[in-house]
Amino acid sequence: MTGGSSRRSARSRIKSFTHADDDRPLRTAKPHPKHRSSLIRIPNVDLKVLLGFGIVSFFLVLFMIHHLINPAERAQRPRVVTPFPAPKIMDLPQFQGEHKESLYWGTYRPNVYLGIRARTPHSLVAGLMWIGVKDGRYSMRHVCQDADDLKKYGWTRHNGRDYGHQKLVDQDMTLMTSFFKSKEDGSGYGGDWTVRIDVQNDNSELSEDLQQTAHLFFYLADEDGNALSLSRDLLDVRDNSLLAFGSRKDIGSWHLHLVSMDDLEVHYSGFKTPHIHNLSDLVQQNLGAQVREFGRLQLSDTSDDSSNIFVFQISGRIPFRTDIAFVSGTDLGGNQRIKDRLNSLTGTLLTTRLGEKEREFDDKFKNSFNLTDELDIESISTGKAAIANLLGGIGYFYGQSKISLPKTSDFKSGERYISYWPAELYTAVPSRPFFPRGFLWDEGFHQLLIWRWDIHICLDIVGHWLDLMNVEGWIPREQILGAEALSKVPEEFVIQHPTNGNPPTLFLVLRDLVSGMKKNKFTATERDQISSFFERAFVRLEAWFQWFNTTQSGTAPSSYFWHGRDNTTTRELNPKTLSSGFDDYPRASHPGNEERHLDLRCWMLLAADCMYSISKLLKKEKELGKEYGSTAKLLSDFDILNQMHFDDAHGAYFDFGNHTEKVRLSWREVGGTNHYASRELVREVLERPKLRLVPHIGYVSLFPFMWRILPPDSLILGKQLNLISNRSMLWTDYGLRSLSKTSSMYMKRNTEHDPPYWRGPIWMNMNYLILSSLHHYSRENGPYKDEATKVYNDLRSNLISNIVRNYHQTGYFWEQYDQKKGKGKGARVFTGWTSLVLLIMAEAYS
Ligand SMILES: *[C@@H]1O[C@H](CO)[C@@H](O)[C@H](O)[C@H]1NC(C)=O
Ligand SMILES: *[C@@H]1O[C@H](CO)[C@@H](O)[C@H](O)[C@H]1NC(C)=O
Ligand SMILES: *[C@@H]1O[C@H](CO)[C@@H](O)[C@H](O)[C@H]1NC(C)=O
Ligand SMILES: *[C@@H]1O[C@H](CO)[C@@H](O)[C@H](O)[C@H]1NC(C)=O
Ligand SMILES: *[C@@H]1O[C@H](CO)[C@@H](O)[C@H](O)[C@H]1NC(C)=O
Ligand SMILES: *[C@@H]1O[C@H](CO)[C@@H](O)[C@H](O)[C@H]1NC(C)=O
Repeated sequence: MTGGSSRRSARSRIKSFTHADDDRPLRTAKPHPKHRSSLIRIPNVDLKVLLGFGIVSFFLVLFMIHHLINPAERAQRPRVVTPFPAPKIMDLPQFQGEHKESLYWGTYRPNVYLGIRARTPHSLVAGLMWIGVKDGRYSMRHVCQDADDLKKYGWTRHNGRDYGHQKLVDQDMTLMTSFFKSKEDGSGYGGDWTVRIDVQNDNSELSEDLQQTAHLFFYLADEDGNALSLSRDLLDVRDNSLLAFGSRKDIGSWHLHLVSMDDLEVHYSGFKTPHIHNLSDLVQQNLGAQVREFGRLQLSDTSDDSSNIFVFQISGRIPFRTDIAFVSGTDLGGNQRIKDRLNSLTGTLLTTRLGEKEREFDDKFKNSFNLTDELDIESISTGKAAIANLLGGIGYFYGQSKISLPKTSDFKSGERYISYWPAELYTAVPSRPFFPRGFLWDEGFHQLLIWRWDIHICLDIVGHWLDLMNVEGWIPREQILGAEALSKVPEEFVIQHPTNGNPPTLFLVLRDLVSGMKKNKFTATERDQISSFFERAFVRLEAWFQWFNTTQSGTAPSSYFWHGRDNTTTRELNPKTLSSGFDDYPRASHPGNEERHLDLRCWMLLAADCMYSISKLLKKEKELGKEYGSTAKLLSDFDILNQMHFDDAHGAYFDFGNHTEKVRLSWREVGGTNHYASRELVREVLERPKLRLVPHIGYVSLFPFMWRILPPDSLILGKQLNLISNRSMLWTDYGLRSLSKTSSMYMKRNTEHDPPYWRGPIWMNMNYLILSSLHHYSRENGPYKDEATKVYNDLRSNLISNIVRNYHQTGYFWEQYDQKKGKGKGARVFTGWTSLVLLIMAEAYS
């Protein structure tokens, strides 16, 4: 059984593209036949007769056609791609109307340095490219990527709605991009928006004639393929020029204007193509041809017939500033009104409005996170960047996941995957350059921040995720929707495996919401909306719970394990557990059905407990909640937990399974007809495994502590504090290691190509949960109160200072932090769960 794609394999694939991969995901063969649409075909029915029956019977007939004639057809759609049969959460009234319109346009293309689109499947999209110069070499910047070697980029302020400010440092050049949106009288649906770009040179010592010219490329593309129109006086830019205009069903007529007081030159090129994801290639080809033929670095000033994409090259001597305003509903208002709106979206009026938005952001930041004076200015600016980047990274995606088919399926052989239904996803992302798409495992952590900032955005995101559930109660964990998202992921890693779970972290935020309701943290309207959200989400959450409770259960009563580990591989030192989210964190050496995974047991406790509280909130505990209550009670039973998972000798909680410590990787010659025999790393097992506790101390061992199952006066609590604070085990000056230094797998490679990932480095999501429990025990009376308080304070200050230091030194948040020196590692611009540092600063815990 293959594990499938995970954040980790997403990362390692980039390096080890050409190597045979250990998990060997199912390869795609030819595309599957389009599955039947659920469109109802009406046979030859006489409409007059139908009208005679009246509307009601008309629908009755439709119903019968649908249900009696179609079952055979419908049966062809495998369950795995059948949506969960319940009203969609996103159809709730609270997500329509003003709410929906207010979130229509946004910076919802996190994979590019600056990208704007609307929350609709086929949108008008806008974006920015520019020419970067490094060591005399020119290259196009567009899609966020490390190879561009920007010294820094990211949102310093963003409210997730109508305002954001970003700074990008590309060698000596600094770009500042501001996004601002406003809905005025006469605007089309979703309102107007504007982008301000300030280009500056850091090297102010350059004399005037050495000042470089900067080339920006701003584009507008219609994903629907509608032709855009080019303004006629385009090449003669004055301080205010119309660039392009057009019309769409969703927003009506629109104009795109360029406004600048600086001396700028504009060129353009128009393309007709459905491939928007590789637009940078098109622009580079166009420029390349111009350079070769005419020796000039400027677009051709030509366009294809009915171009659906226009790229505008804006060139000027640094420093300069330009405002690019998008005005909608131009067919609705008079000329004067449009002029007024344009005025207020550009120039000095825009400067004023951006200033107001900046202050608004700062005030809201203060009120939402309430940081105390104890924190210095550097920490506070890091905290602002954390929430700004998380919000600014929110994306909107549309497309179909690819789902692997089990071998026993009725489908003809060769068809190894099937498409999920076309779906929308509005979600935060872990990292703009590396993981600019939805990840179920990360999303629950993201929402811990987002609900505290904007509960409506939070509910909207969680609702989108739950609507992705299939009839079995399963949600694909990595969402690669649409060509833009797909272009970042090699084909063989795209497929999702319907037998694999992923931690149901969304329950973390649902638990916060329930407890916020109890503590009266919300306004009356918010309370209503949260309640109706829960009302509608309840059946889906139940199905989700049941999916885990049945497919991921173990052989021992009330035990669980992550299904899908590879029990035949001989290439991995310890077969990975991708579905747990902890990829290579060591588990039993020999996967099997006797395993019990401590982390999953605790996730199940969270889920059951949360379901019980929600049912109480909805006053349904009698009918619906009972089972959850008793499951939660069972899973939080201290004695049962200890019997199943506690190891006296180590004073620690462990997984259980078929295990031996005596394994190692050795080189083995593999036959070949080449002159050079090739060799590979193969696992050797030097002792027969047996059923036992699996003695690795690390994040997984601390789950019962994180879940606060331990009574405050328990000796075991004291032992957990010792494991945490012991430098030979988990403690470092930068946060807690993922795996104890004493573990036989500490910092061990799993295969030739897999360096240690969750085998030592420091991760923020787990540090946040551990810190949260330390905070809890520091407030519970008992013999360990003082110890917990001390460990809490030390860990908190280590985490904050290390992340703040890294942010200011490198310009970025990182995926993990090295346990020796605290240095940021892995993917950079990891503004997903690393942003939890802000909640740590705020001491905001569940
Ligand atoms: C863009 O992508 C499409 C399909 O993925 C491909 O056919 C086309 O050649 C690409 N265009 C360029 C300019 O690379
Ligand atoms: C903010 O913090 C102060 C001091 O810790 C506290 O008194 C106040 O209640 C907090 N306010 C909010 C809204 O949490
Ligand atoms: C591996 O697991 C599968 C599915 O549980 C099982 O059918 C098979 O017998 C196992 N193989 C070994 C070698 O344990
Ligand atoms: C979860 O599964 C166990 C074992 O089958 C069962 O006893 C329990 O009632 C289930 N919990 C819920 C809430 O359905
Ligand atoms: C443990 O693994 C060994 C080696 O694969 C196997 O022979 C044995 O049956 C397994 N024991 C159990 C209880 O699964
Ligand atoms: C810390 O852990 C090491 C390794 O397990 C152990 O030898 C040492 O006694 C522990 N130190 C304390 C203070 O418990």
